Amino acid sequence: MGKRQVKFNNLVPATKVTKELQNAFLKVLDSGNYILSKNVLEFEEKFAKYLGAKYCIGVGNGLEAIQISLMSLGIGKDDEVITTPISAVATTLAILAVGAIPVFVDTKDDGLINEGLIEKAITKATKAILPVHLYGNSVNLEKIQAICKQYNLYLVEDAAQAHGSSFTGKKLGTFGDLGCFSFYPTKNLGALGDGGAIVTNNKKNADVCREIRDYGQNKKYHHVRFALNSRLDEIQAALLYIKLKSLDSQNNQRRRLAIRYISHLSNIPSLKIVKADNLNNANFHLFVIRAKKRDKLMGYLKRSGVQTFIHFPKIIPDQPFLKPEYGNLSLPNARKFVKEILSLPLYPEMIIDEVDYTSKLIKNFYEPKN
Ligand SMILES: Cc1ncc(COP(=O)(O)O)c(C=O)c1O
Repeated sequence: MGKRQVKFNNLVPATKVTKELQNAFLKVLDSGNYILSKNVLEFEEKFAKYLGAKYCIGVGNGLEAIQISLMSLGIGKDDEVITTPISAVATTLAILAVGAIPVFVDTKDDGLINEGLIEKAITKATKAILPVHLYGNSVNLEKIQAICKQYNLYLVEDAAQAHGSSFTGKKLGTFGDLGCFSFYPTKNLGALGDGGAIVTNNKKNADVCREIRDYGQNKKYHHVRFALNSRLDEIQAALLYIKLKSLDSQNNQRRRLAIRYISHLSNIPSLKIVKADNLNNANFHLFVIRAKKRDKLMGYLKRSGVQTFIHFPKIIPDQPFLKPEYGNLSLPNARKFVKEILSLPLYPEMIIDEVDYTSKLIKNFYEPKN
């Protein structure tokens, strides 16, 4: 097998889309309106419609989407929020940003929060559950919604990796009191900079989130609450509006490539593929395997020209700034998971040949043919 280079991702849009993005950018430039104007409104409407939600509020990034959501529910000092130890650190940072306490619940073999362990973590101080649809795979919303109902808890979904994924035919982000998205460039719907959104079906939640993202004003220079400045800007909104048009086809392309990986890799005893039970529900934000001798495999792939990453190399409570307080928590599954996972290259424009090459290398690593 001749050596080649397989990139993990490629964020440069296809040429056809680039022209459209350039035109949209120039239109905003010429408009003279750069903050909370027509393009943000149009994108919010389009994204809400795409998801099947009533309201969308464009914000600065995914972390602040969660922070603002929690603020809008009145969650603050000493309240407890149940969440997962495996996510981008932003999920926990948002909880800490409102003064609340993250309560970490161990994960299952697929890296998603173990809904069977949530009830044990509920106390009098618990106000909300903040699960993460890791890699675009849905948590068990049926069970989590039932727990929220029984214990009168809010549900805030971290759908930052789950644009276009669904559960029982309904889009993720629309199950909770609020759903939070990031448009960080690597996401399935990525901006050309930072961006985020909150979706909800509740008008009051939507109004409060709108106020919080914009200095707490409900009309100009009339500030009714403590707030942030976290506004999706006009340029990113205009670009996202265009990119949203191809989200489904790009997710389908990711799925096709993932299915190809699965066909190559599913019979290797030394690895397990982390995937949704129903592949049609997932957006394949990342293609993740659990691999024996993970670090050696990663090194071998790197030497063979294939770029891989680990999402995420440490559970959040073991990050240096949290370790003194949370490092002793018993989270055996999550800690084992992060030692074994490896994210393989996957992006819509990737070619099948690259999937085949990467898969062959992995097979060769575990079953060398000399
Ligand atoms: C699961 C999850 N939550 C939250 C975030 C935070 O998003 P952002 O980087 O836009 O603040 C990310 C993105 O990295 C994420 O993957």
